[in-house]
Parts: sequence; structure tokens; C-alpha cells
Amino acid sequence: MNPVKLTGKTKVAGVFGDPVEHSLSPLMHNAAYASLGMDWVYVPFHVKAEALAAAVQGVRALGIAGVNVTVPHKVAVMEHLDEIDEEARLIGAVNTVVHREGRLLGYNTDGRGFLRSLERETGRTPRGASVMIVGAGGAALAIAASLALAGARRLWVVNRTLEKAQAVAKRVAARVLARALPLDESDPAFRRALREAEIIIHTTSVGMYPHHDVPPVVPVEAIDPAALVCDIVYRPRQTALIRAARERGCAVLTGEGMLAFQGAIAFELITGHRAPEALMLDTLRRHLAETECESR
Ligand code: ATR
Repeated sequence: MNPVKLTGKTKVAGVFGDPVEHSLSPLMHNAAYASLGMDWVYVPFHVKAEALAAAVQGVRALGIAGVNVTVPHKVAVMEHLDEIDEEARLIGAVNTVVHREGRLLGYNTDGRGFLRSLERETGRTPRGASVMIVGAGGAALAIAASLALAGARRLWVVNRTLEKAQAVAKRVAARVLARALPLDESDPAFRRALREAEIIIHTTSVGMYPHHDVPPVVPVEAIDPAALVCDIVYRPRQTALIRAARERGCAVLTGEGMLAFQGAIAFELITGHRAPEALMLDTLRRHLAETECESR
């Protein structure tokens, strides 16, 4: 990495999280600044829940240009902001705060990051598509909201706990034909949806290191081989689901793209510059490849 040369004009951005040391955002954003010769620096800030309000005040007081916000602050940060954009409101969480002319504006780039990864890496668009989301946590909701706003035709939200799938489906129901289903292979509606889905997006933590040897929660043999199977898990990059889907003949999309592109969109919102997307994705991929053998 190039040494960072700080000057009196250096602009500061960063990420708030607890924990924050695992965050790959500093790596991606600083690489992007360096590649464009920008006098910017991106800093990880370890912010405890009880210090969040003061930390957001710090953004104002210190003139920080913008911050990403990660676990556990994505919902709590909202009450401290001046404005929240439509998609972040629909999701009910913010992952990017932009400091513009003294005002703090909240956005959520997670779902849009997934969509940009989908479009750039597979050439597919969700417009008019029948999509299944497996899981009903924060990532699932962000993706569901983006798909709904991008004009998906049908959305099945499938989850082990049906009530959580119902809550996600209800949240986007005004924008897309959404239905909640149980993650249960004996459920005929779930099996039918598996055959009909053109895009399947796995968002649960199953298959994530260090539990990467467990079988996928989706019965891959019931998927249409013409479907695109996406896993947002990026450690390991080749999850058991991705490997099984590939064997079935499906096109696949691995999870690091969503991480890279949510960062690219946040970069654009915070700096106002077009993101060096390919460089951000490549930086992330190289880092994951270098550290994968350690995490296995
Ligand atoms: P995130 O915010 O990253 O999406 P989360 O909110 O913790 O994470 O959500 C985790 C998701 O993984 C949930 O959909 C969860 O299912 P439940 O709502 O039933 O808990 C799902 N999940 C976790 N472990 C699972 C398992 N062993 N089998 C099926 N689903 C699982």
C-alpha cells in the first residue's frame, strides 16, 4: 500500500462499527483514493453503542466528509441524521452518512451494491424478474428493497423463521408482488418457487467461515439449471452453495461483489467522484484470496 501523506487539506472519511477491526472498507476506500491521487484518508472508528450520538456529533464538529456505518449502528444512527433517503427509509437502516453543507444525510448502499454487482458481473437486471431471497435478516431486507425499487416482478422471501420472512415481504409489498415462504423442503409452495425463480439470492450466515463445510440450506437439486444462484457470503468465496449450483449448471455470483460495490456507491456519495469500481473489487478479491488460506 502507498504511504498516506496527510496534509492540511486532507479530507477524512471512515467507518463506525463495534467491532470495526475486521472491516475491509478502509482497505478498499484508501486503495481507491490512492489510485485516483485523491488527498483523502479513510479511518476505522471503534464506536460503542453508548458513544454513537457523540460520534455522530464528531462528524459535524470535526468536518468529517462522511462515514460508513456498520453493525450494530445501522438502525440507531438514523435518529441522529438530518435527512434519510427513500431507499434507506424503506430498509429502515443506514450504512452511509454524507456530510454536506453542515447537514448529515443517510443512505443505504447495501442493496444497491448487490444490484450493481449483479449487473456488472452477470449482465442481468432484476427488472421483470422472479427472484427468491433466502434469509430475512438485515442484508435480505436491503436487497429486497432494492429489488422492489428496481422493478422486480415477483419476490419470494424464504426463511427458517416464517414471521421474519413475512415482515420483510410486508415491508416491500407496496412496490413488488412479495410472498413469504418457510425454508422447508416439504412445503409445496417453496418447491414450486424454487423451480420458477430466475434469480436466487442466499443471505443467511450458513456456509460462512468457520462453518463452511455444512450443506447449503437451499435444496440445489430443485433449482432450475437456467437460474442464477447468488451467495452473499464471501468467506469462503466458493461456498458449498456456489459449488453445488455450479455443478447443477447454474450461473453463479459470489458474495464479494456486493461488498465491493456497496463500498463503491458509498465512495461516490461521500466524495462526489466516480468510483474506481474494478480496482475496489480487485483489491478486495486479492485480500480475500491472500487471507483465505489463513481462515481455512
Ligand atoms: P444479516 O443482518 O447479516 O442479514 P441476521 O440479521 O443475523 O444477519 O440474519 C441471519 C439470517 O440467517 C436469518 O434469516 C436467519 O434465519 P432466522 O430468522 O430463522 O434466524 C438465517 N439463519 C441463520 N442460521 C441459520 C440456519 N442454521 N438455518 C437457516 N437459516 C439460518
